Amino acid sequence: MSEQRVGDLDLPMRGVSQPNREDVLHLPGVHISTHPVVAHKLTRLRDYRTAPPEFYRLVKELGALLAYEATIDLALVSTPIETPLKPTTGWNLAGGVGVVPILRAGLGLAEGFREVFPEVQVWHLGLRRDERTLEPIEYYNQIGRAENLQVCFSVDPMLATGGSAIDAINALKRIGVPHLRYMCIIAAPYGLKKLHETHPDVPIYVAAVDEVLNDRGFIVPGLGDAGDRQFGTL
Ligand code: PRP
Repeated sequence: MSEQRVGDLDLPMRGVSQPNREDVLHLPGVHISTHPVVAHKLTRLRDYRTAPPEFYRLVKELGALLAYEATIDLALVSTPIETPLKPTTGWNLAGGVGVVPILRAGLGLAEGFREVFPEVQVWHLGLRRDERTLEPIEYYNQIGRAENLQVCFSVDPMLATGGSAIDAINALKRIGVPHLRYMCIIAAPYGLKKLHETHPDVPIYVAAVDEVLNDRGFIVPGLGDAGDRQFGTL
């Protein structure tokens, strides 16, 4: 930043070296969805003609689909139950699921999570990206105490420079939340690599990895501003 000219302040990614998409596709702990339904819904999400009501619905649906994919390895405990026909053995999740939506755009994803895990603990974290510096600014924090969680997801549709995701994971680690994971819909190679390098212990689940960040720090081709498109503040 210090080498930037005053006229470049609105173009914080100008001249910043970025990895190629191929460089990040096989990073350990990075899971990229190959589900055709995810690809189908993501295409509708990207389309500029998709209006906020449908956009929000699609974010929720993708949240539910990614929640399935990102919890395939959760532990179970056996429990005796009785069906209408006879006693048998069933299975319960061995511990709860937490989800931390990064406001605002993470709200739709968290709602999708709740469709799959109605008893999920939801902790809200407000981070706003400064458009000039791209640094995240925390403005709200309702992170609670981890009670019997077997996994806790930080969720946000967009992983651009990675600053918001890294700060969110930092905040969760500071208070000792264990078994953290991160989930987003679209990741830029730059942010994906940075998040992976900063928090290599945190598995990352994404629907798609895009090409690059433009000079303003927007993911290309991306889908525009996920917060504005969900909440009609275009
Ligand atoms: C966007 C997006 C992420 C963040 C990603 O949020 O929803 O939270 O930027 O950028 P980063 O990886 O470079 O940190 P924004 O600041 O636009 O806030 P909003 O969700 O309220 O729209």
